[in-house]
Amino acid sequence: MRRPYIAGNWKMHKTCAEAAAFAALLRDALDDAPHTVMVAPPFTALAAVSEVLKGSAILLGAQNMAAEETGAHTGEVSVLMLEELGVSAVILGHSERRHTYGETDELINAKVKLALAHGLTAILCIGETLDEREAGLVTAVVERQLEKGLQGVREAQLNGVVIAYEPVWAIGTGRTATPDDADSVHRVVRNKIAALYSKRAADDMVIQYGGSVKPDNAAGLMAKPNIDGALVGGASLKPESFIPIARFDRG
Ligand code: PGA
Repeated sequence: MRRPYIAGNWKMHKTCAEAAAFAALLRDALDDAPHTVMVAPPFTALAAVSEVLKGSAILLGAQNMAAEETGAHTGEVSVLMLEELGVSAVILGHSERRHTYGETDELINAKVKLALAHGLTAILCIGETLDEREAGLVTAVVERQLEKGLQGVREAQLNGVVIAYEPVWAIGTGRTATPDDADSVHRVVRNKIAALYSKRAADDMVIQYGGSVKPDNAAGLMAKPNIDGALVGGASLKPESFIPIARFDRG
């Protein structure tokens, strides 16, 4: 059985002090949440949030990491530094990294493999732009991003992989894919995992949906058979929106 996984991506929001205070609030409200819950603060707040979440069921995530362990990489953050802070999951290939910062499938693949080699959960983000959707390329794009993102990853390592399907046109726009639309792409993802690995790997793969997930649409999305959780941006920044999403009830 796949356990639902709700992740909050705080992006470039919250100072250290703000992040620690918010994490304390979430710790008290979500420690007994019925689903896996993760928060990904900015790098600068990881140490403070890690301290607050010590002993809590909420997992600590990072929003990105370098593709190398050490070296002359000004401005980058290493997996070794994340591990030291108690980070257990890392978001990789987020559309803002792909489209604003030019990350390629090859670079993202190197990061996925490095994260897995260190025992971190790699949340591999995939998803089409509006132009790609309108050109009928959704399946081609997500299949390519999956195939390239997972190149060289062995089936035995897949328990450390979560896929996040995030249609770029739905991120931060208030436009959400309908539950049926999202579920049909999640089915494409699951079938591609079956083709690349096995039916069993596909059945076990946790596939999150991301893109304007809010308290009022979360349960409807999560009720779909192929949607196993959410990667939440804007609504993860406030307790009144993140807590109900993290506690969603399929009914
Ligand atoms: P959003 O962001 O919930 O603000 O649309 C989702 C994401 O970027 O992961």
